[in-house]
Amino acid sequence: MEKIRIALVAAAVLCAPFATAQTATKIKVGLMLPASGAYASLGTAIENGFKLYVAEQGGKLAGREVEYARVDDESDPAKAIDNVNKLLKRDNVDVLVGTVHSGVALAMAKVAKETGTPLIVPNAGAAAITGSMCALTTFRSSFTMWQPAYAMGEVVAAKGHKNVVTITYKYAAGDESVSGFKEAFEKAGGKVVKELNLPFPNVEFQALLTEIAATKPDAVYAFFAGAGAVKFVKDYAAAGLKKSIPLYASGFLTDGTLEAQGADAEGLLTTLHYGDGLGTARDNAFRQAYTRVYKGEPDVYAVQGYDAAQMLAIGLNAVQGDLTKRQEFAAAIERAKIDSPRGAFTLSRSHNPVQDIYLRQVVGGQNKVIGVASKALADPGHGCSL
Ligand code: BEZ
Repeated sequence: MEKIRIALVAAAVLCAPFATAQTATKIKVGLMLPASGAYASLGTAIENGFKLYVAEQGGKLAGREVEYARVDDESDPAKAIDNVNKLLKRDNVDVLVGTVHSGVALAMAKVAKETGTPLIVPNAGAAAITGSMCALTTFRSSFTMWQPAYAMGEVVAAKGHKNVVTITYKYAAGDESVSGFKEAFEKAGGKVVKELNLPFPNVEFQALLTEIAATKPDAVYAFFAGAGAVKFVKDYAAAGLKKSIPLYASGFLTDGTLEAQGADAEGLLTTLHYGDGLGTARDNAFRQAYTRVYKGEPDVYAVQGYDAAQMLAIGLNAVQGDLTKRQEFAAAIERAKIDSPRGAFTLSRSHNPVQDIYLRQVVGGQNKVIGVASKALADPGHGCSL
């Protein structure tokens, strides 16, 4: 029986992109995610997770069949407004889901707010998305950059490190990751002695690694993800720095990247709201279903996609699929406890997850959870008054 159910879910997931017929009862979800560029694999995992949850519900949410329209946003902020308008004006989507890159998501949030379109952000962590740009029907299923970074600032201080160099991409996500880390680390008596950065998605790290070696800090804190994370971890080890200067990071550095990073990632400590080996019944069931359908292990991005679909389902169920009831739709998500594979979470006043941040270590090619760095960590809030 279980085998038949999984086969049905797999068939529904794999056929989903080809659904084209339109009827009044269908709900059209606009997926704006990267399918190319440095964050392409993150976009794929989010889409897989989202479609897995919908398929588990028989392909319908609140009785309405789910249909998808997609756009490859290329993680390019310059194309973001045009891309979101393609989904809204060309494809007439009812709901927006996206994206990975904060610069692109900020544009999505602006358009979603102006048009009153429900938006669920399944990754991008810039604070303004659920802060100064917050809207009644804009929600995030992921994190703010501050959350794992702040938790890591406390961990690095507790290890006794005093002087740290930070390194990241120069855009909202990187800047906010570094400032979250710095806030906690310096509050605990440490000092960020140098802040290094380079433009996204550049991977020429050599000059910056030479500068780290010359500065000789006690430790390094980094934010990189996707292809940049793979190259950074490999270059850090190849430069001989892994042996002499411990590298710490928000978990994006090693999530979905470990196969490509290989031995160079072994032992790294990171903080994130998901990890391997949680061992809960909820997570085990999710991981089994994901692996059977997609033939690979899920990562944090897959979980965020899955939970974006759960959040949409909660809102839609509360209004029997009628998205004109915006207040009731939003209220249902606001008061929900989301049954996530990461562990159940609620949403803050600014529609951002309040969640445990795990301490993880790369062991045997996995991001093994070795503790909870910060329990039920809420983003400090950035002035959203809905
Ligand atoms: C961001 O741009 O917000 C982001 C991208 C990749 C991983 C985490 C955050």
